Amino acid sequence: MAKPIVKWAGGKSRLVPQLLARVPPEVGTYVEPFAGGAALFFALQASVSLGTRRVNRFVLCDRNEELMATYRAVQREVEAVIAALGAYRYDRDLFYEVRARDTRGASDVERAARLLFLNRTCFNGLWRVNADGRFNVPFGRYKNPRFLQPDAPPAASAPTSRGASRGSSVGWVARVPSRCCPTPTPRRPGRSFAPSPASDCMHRGPSTPTPASGATPRSSS
Ligand SMILES: C[S@@+](CC[C@H](N)C(=O)[O-])C[C@H]1O[C@@H](n2cnc3c(N)ncnc32)[C@H](O)[C@@H]1O
Repeated sequence: MAKPIVKWAGGKSRLVPQLLARVPPEVGTYVEPFAGGAALFFALQASVSLGTRRVNRFVLCDRNEELMATYRAVQREVEAVIAALGAYRYDRDLFYEVRARDTRGASDVERAARLLFLNRTCFNGLWRVNADGRFNVPFGRYKNPRFLQPDAPPAASAPTSRGASRGSSVGWVARVPSRCCPTPTPRRPGRSFAPSPASDCMHRGPSTPTPASGATPRSSS
């Protein structure tokens, strides 16, 4: 089964068998509004490739721009991401230098390589940012962190944008939402309302409705 390409807090990998069992055999558009590691997405991609399910289109949304840039790069330029990762090594000084890099103006490939490297070498595989939105997790101690794996972090799971697999045309997009996934707020004072990262949703049928509330997300490509 294809696995997420990033370690992500709150990942649903362990729940994938149960979640997958609830996905109908035919899905029009599959939307993950809070994608994170997108465990179910990768599992679904695999089952589409195996021909056990049909999904017309996948939409991943997450407010984390670095993560969305990573998915875009992996989808479109996986070989370039692998090549860029080759320039990294597990080293404390390099980690802090890479961590401090400003990604404004960087390409998706550069952002992807940076995120994958930091994700595999930081403490606990967390992605946490400060108030300025800058990644601030410290260096992690590992024996042999595998940010560049033989089966390639992304290549193992990189679905093509318009790949035809066993007759079903599967495309996917990764977007930073503008208004489609507002963080839920408590409805009444004193009542907590947890955003549900598991609120992956599926639209059946051939049509391709816009995600979640129907608001059109900003394309970040
Ligand atoms: C727990 S993770 C999702 C886990 C994912 N389903 C998996 O299987 O790995 C939650 C994600 O929601 C994103 N998120 C939180 N609030 C959001 C919002 N208002 N709009 C879009 N994404 C949001 C976070 O950036 C984070 O990546």
